[in-house]
Amino acid sequence: MIVLGVESSCDETGLALYDTQQGLRAHALYSQVTMHEEYGGVVPELASRDHIRRTIPLLEQVLAESGVVRSDIDAIAYTQGPGLAGALLVGASVACGMALALDKPVLGVHHLEGHLLSPLLSNNPPAFPFVALLVSGGHTQLMRVDGVGQYALLGETMDDAAGEAFDKSAKLLGLGYPGGPAISRMAEFGDPDVYTLPRPMLHSKNLDFSFSGLKTAVLTVVKNKITNICEQDKANVARAFVDAIVDVLTAKCTAALKQTGLKRLVIAGGVGANKQLREALNAAARKKHFQVFYPEMEFCTDNGAMIAFAGAMRLQVAPDAAKKEYAFNVRPRWPLDELRTV
Ligand code: KG4
Ligand code: ZN
Repeated sequence: MIVLGVESSCDETGLALYDTQQGLRAHALYSQVTMHEEYGGVVPELASRDHIRRTIPLLEQVLAESGVVRSDIDAIAYTQGPGLAGALLVGASVACGMALALDKPVLGVHHLEGHLLSPLLSNNPPAFPFVALLVSGGHTQLMRVDGVGQYALLGETMDDAAGEAFDKSAKLLGLGYPGGPAISRMAEFGDPDVYTLPRPMLHSKNLDFSFSGLKTAVLTVVKNKITNICEQDKANVARAFVDAIVDVLTAKCTAALKQTGLKRLVIAGGVGANKQLREALNAAARKKHFQVFYPEMEFCTDNGAMIAFAGAMRLQVAPDAAKKEYAFNVRPRWPLDELRTV
């Protein structure tokens, strides 16, 4: 079975072809980062218009690279939510329009399910069940994953997502957008002993998170320095920020494994690309004897491959999930634990 995946939930347009026999046949991505950079964050209307420009050329690209012809496609999967409504509508309308023209079934995929299953695309995929830490720009959640569509929420952020804390703190330090990679690079030059920032909810008895206080702590340090924050000092703040967030994420992952009795941890979403987080989790895994799995670097942030793959996985457990019904809607807000195997 060959599934075409279409991702357009935020600021990346991703198209991919996943073949259940041969694996990933092709994927193509266009990132809008440079367009949004000058505004310091994603401008939803610009994002939607750009998805319109990119989707068809990227589709032609994956078809040409894979040698797959349109009639070979068995089903089309698109990100139905969560995400920016206008941006989601672009992918949904292209997917449904194309499916109608080709007389193929179509299915809406949950963006976070795409992230959650993305480590299964790697050469060393985890087996079910596992604990998953979903850390993206909009979400920070710990889930217990027993299989495709079997997700139980263990804990989540009470306020800002981890990626959001990275982005907002980077902005306060004048490091541009997206902030995660920039703050991570800067932190490498920072002295860990200059500042200590709070580790919110580190000792709470549950698996929830809170990151808005951490961003406020960065603001306080930066404000006190407003006259002249030198590059070294920015690096020191970046280091303190990364150390704090990594400590909390690592501790909560370890606690989730202990609570569930599971020995496999999966990290998914953009913050999963973070070098310091990976180092800390790898160290914890060695010490506490669990396994940790990451998606390939290129599939940590948004992409079409994870949507094509999640669509294909869903169709393997529920072949009727894709339908020749072409009226579509999108779900900008859509809790992952509402998903069931259909
Ligand atoms: O999963 P994703 O691409 O999009 C959403 O679904 O939100 O995640 C984007 C988030 C952004 O907040 C970005 O700053 C963060 O992931 N991010 C990182 C790194 N790369 C991306 N955060 C920390 N370190 C990184 N290397
Ligand atoms: Zn995402």
